[in-house]
Amino acid sequence: MVWKRTISAKALEKAKFASVKVDDKVIFIANVNGTLYGMDAVCSHARCILGLLDEQKLTVKCPCHHAVFDLKTGAMLEPPYVAPDAPKEKLGLKTYQVRDNGGWVEVDI
Ligand code: FES
Repeated sequence: MVWKRTISAKALEKAKFASVKVDDKVIFIANVNGTLYGMDAVCSHARCILGLLDEQKLTVKCPCHHAVFDLKTGAMLEPPYVAPDAPKEKLGLKTYQVRDNGGWVEVDI
């Protein structure tokens, strides 16, 4: 395990979610009712940065073509909205363990 410090826990609690750079990765972190989540922030379709959190469904929608990812597992639940004849392959994203360590959000990469 390699825990990396990102942003303050208070900042994430207030913002609900953020995309943070950790080494060579961009990771989407979220605080939903006190539970912390983390997964790759770069969409598996065309590499847009994710950013539309649904706290009720625990999903994240890509703003570019609206692929939807499961915040807990990283699975792609809905494919990108593109041309009707485009391939509908569902490529998931890697998830990460996230913790609050003394007021700092840390990600295990
Ligand atoms: S880049 Fe995310 S759905 Fe296309």
